[in-house]
Amino acid sequence: MTDIGKTYSQTNDWQGERWHELLELYFRSGLDRNKIKSLIDLGCGTGERTKECLKYFPALEKVIGIDAEESMLEVAKKKNCDPQIEYKNLPIEQVETLSPRIFDAILGNYSLHWVKDKEKMVEKINSLSHIGSAMLVGTCTKLPILLQAIDDELHSQLKIKEPSPFFYLNLSGWTKLFTKYGWHLTASHISKDQHTVARGEQFLSQWFASSSGKALYGKSPENLEKGFVEKLLKKLDKAFLNSQGEWQFIEETLLIVAERVK
Ligand SMILES: C[S@@+](CC[C@H](N)C(=O)[O-])C[C@H]1O[C@@H](n2cnc3c(N)ncnc32)[C@H](O)[C@@H]1O
Repeated sequence: MTDIGKTYSQTNDWQGERWHELLELYFRSGLDRNKIKSLIDLGCGTGERTKECLKYFPALEKVIGIDAEESMLEVAKKKNCDPQIEYKNLPIEQVETLSPRIFDAILGNYSLHWVKDKEKMVEKINSLSHIGSAMLVGTCTKLPILLQAIDDELHSQLKIKEPSPFFYLNLSGWTKLFTKYGWHLTASHISKDQHTVARGEQFLSQWFASSSGKALYGKSPENLEKGFVEKLLKKLDKAFLNSQGEWQFIEETLLIVAERVK
């Protein structure tokens, strides 16, 4: 059985690279990093970003990382602990229960596209933020093409009835949402990046881990029928295999920095 936390902690380079781009965007946006004394990391995973916040926001006194997946938090507490960080098992959908805590910055790196009701989410974030709080979001504009191919195959071959658990917004969707709830986008960036991943079942485990099982509808790669996996790998090879024997595809990344103004 794939250990979600352990696998993710070894395979999150892509999310790490995008996070560094998000930080650069924040630094260029003109917002003052020295005003950030408290930060919440929504969907903190194994805590790599949560811990790095202490390095990049020198005035930070307190960081809370929340995640709904216990095995992610187990790794975070072991590998990325610090007296200033508190990790909590809490779904983003229940983040308002942290009230009356108030945060100077809210981070969601590759996690907010799992949240269906974005309006409720921002309303709840507002109960934990103040005018002048900063928001840093790293996400995609849609499910990347390789992952969409896996999802399509799961639905058609395994007759999965559940709708896809992905809730992406494009830049205009995020802008409308944030503006409605009093946030001003100070900077945003869209890039089309070439993403190369290890071919094969190994990648299915990686995708299973990074989505905390949601992507494969709770079916660990080891539980998928062999025939299904073989057929899926062949299909993915045909569409995405490069000359180095890896799968290669373009992923559109969306980075947003916003400030609460109302
Ligand atoms: C791709 S990982 C990103 C982790 C981390 N932010 C990073 O940059 O490496 C997505 C994380 O979001 C968490 N997640 C997804 N939906 C969530 C929800 N509704 N509430 C809390 N955590 C959630 C998953 O458990 C997973 O740890």
